[in-house]
Amino acid sequence: MAASSRTVSASLLFMFFLFGFSAAKELLVGGNVNAWKIPSSEADSLNNWAEKSRFNVGDHLVWKYDGGKDSVLQVNRQDYANCNSSNPIEKYSDGNTKVKLDRPGPFYFISGAKGHCEKGQKLVVVVITPRRRYSAVSPAPSPAPSSAELEESPAVAPTSSAPVLQTGFATALGLLATISVAFLM
Ligand SMILES: *[C@@H]1O[C@H](CO)[C@@H](O)[C@H](O)[C@H]1NC(C)=O
Repeated sequence: MAASSRTVSASLLFMFFLFGFSAAKELLVGGNVNAWKIPSSEADSLNNWAEKSRFNVGDHLVWKYDGGKDSVLQVNRQDYANCNSSNPIEKYSDGNTKVKLDRPGPFYFISGAKGHCEKGQKLVVVVITPRRRYSAVSPAPSPAPSSAELEESPAVAPTSSAPVLQTGFATALGLLATISVAFLM
């Protein structure tokens, strides 16, 4: 039925915007499917990739590899440095590993395949501290604008406190919901 399939596409559109706004991403390690391997050169290394990427709290790292031949071990800093695979924090060997970056700071990963870590198959990802830029620019909390003000200017980017951010977010979602409904008419 045409109506229900349109409802579905409007919902998908809405979800797309929702996830776009919440900004949680899935990052394929190395940027392609076969990247979890011994790097052919320094430039090809996963840490070279990680340095060019930006990791936020809530993002997921995704590894694609042959689970029969390799694995992903999450380890501490020392075991990362020594390529010690005997005591991992977590061990994954399902070939399609997803790890949530649930806090700021460094996350260390090494290959569980024998000898691979020593040859450079390892990764450190540093998750940035959330809201650093907000706390840097707004030392004092400012009063939240009234809802009438927000309705008048939904496109103005909020710059200060968290309640303002949330209100702005809700306003943006409301606007998108309206667009989605209009799309259905
Ligand atoms: C690897 O880690 C284990 C447990 O933490 C430790 O007992 C062992 O000595 C370490 N091996 C090497 C080669 O560092």
